[in-house]
Amino acid sequence: MIGSRSSNSISRSNEDVGAGAGCHAGAGCHAGAGTQYGRRRRGVVVMRFADKVCVVTGAAKGIGLATAQRLAAEGAHVVLAGRDGHALERAARTFQGAHEPLCVSLDVGEDDQCAQAVETVVARFGRIDVLVNNAGIYAKGDVVSTSPELWARILQINLTGAFYMSRHVVPHMMRRRYGVVVNVASEAGLVGIRGQLAYNVSKAALIGLTRSLAVDLAPYGIRVNAVCPGTTWTPLVERAVQAESDPAAARRALEECRPLGRLGSPEEIAAAVCFLASDECGFATGAVLAVDGGYTAQ
Ligand SMILES: NC(=O)c1ccc[n+]([C@@H]2O[C@H](COP(=O)([O-])OP(=O)(O)OC[C@H]3O[C@@H](n4cnc5c(N)ncnc54)[C@H](OP(=O)(O)O)[C@@H]3O)[C@@H](O)[C@H]2O)c1
Repeated sequence: MIGSRSSNSISRSNEDVGAGAGCHAGAGCHAGAGTQYGRRRRGVVVMRFADKVCVVTGAAKGIGLATAQRLAAEGAHVVLAGRDGHALERAARTFQGAHEPLCVSLDVGEDDQCAQAVETVVARFGRIDVLVNNAGIYAKGDVVSTSPELWARILQINLTGAFYMSRHVVPHMMRRRYGVVVNVASEAGLVGIRGQLAYNVSKAALIGLTRSLAVDLAPYGIRVNAVCPGTTWTPLVERAVQAESDPAAARRALEECRPLGRLGSPEEIAAAVCFLASDECGFATGAVLAVDGGYTAQ
């Protein structure tokens, strides 16, 4: 970041709580509100995002909320962006970072709403250091059962939404010759998972967007990377599992199909997003990090 590229601050604490230390999160292990992510081993508190302005889309719940909480706990000014203003406000009340989150309502599938939201953030803070394109939707369907409308909707939110947010945020990053974009893709973007055609394609294309942006924006000091979560216990997955005829069996199948034999937690995905977003990961751009319990290693 211009002016504070090496500003990651480290301070002392009496606490000895790891970022998920000991939380070899079985499915359903949610660290939840109030987790002191900034606290690390031997009482050293790492604040990798001290005073950085970090925008997270889809931040009302799930992976987006866990990411925003962790960024805030490490010192960021966090902007919670999402469709439901009330849900964002409720989420904001659970934050314990130094700065109160700013909530902005937007549908990432609408270019003018993305432009307006970015304008609001820049008017308030003067800059954006980190953009996490996390908002996404999921639906089942193969090539026969996926309607053109569903296909278009999934691509619009999961892929075009990241393009819209990036096209409005990047000029502000270019001006300062600093910025980081992290796209939340999926294991489904790395391999073809049966029966979820449009979702798979949207995430594969998001990985393509990540690599193209990384190459184009490297000369401006802007890094662009992607995290590919494996199945993670969030409201999105809970909904999909509950829709099955035998939800318990469906969940078991999701756990058993990966070498680690369990689902991920939102906090584990948030940790990977924050690593890629941090300056300690400064040499990585165009990277695609699978955090999937080994699913795509098989
Ligand atoms: N959970 C997994 O297993 C998993 C695995 C791989 C990748 N991912 C990806 O990780 C991301 C987060 O997933 P999650 O599991 O945390 O999902 P989630 O629990 O359903 O949360 C998704 C968030 O995105 C928001 N959102 C959806 N459409 C939006 C739009 N058009 N504009 C703005 N916000 C929108 C939702 O808002 P509302 O509250 O209004 O719905 C919600 O807050 C998604 O991109 C997903 O594809 C998840």
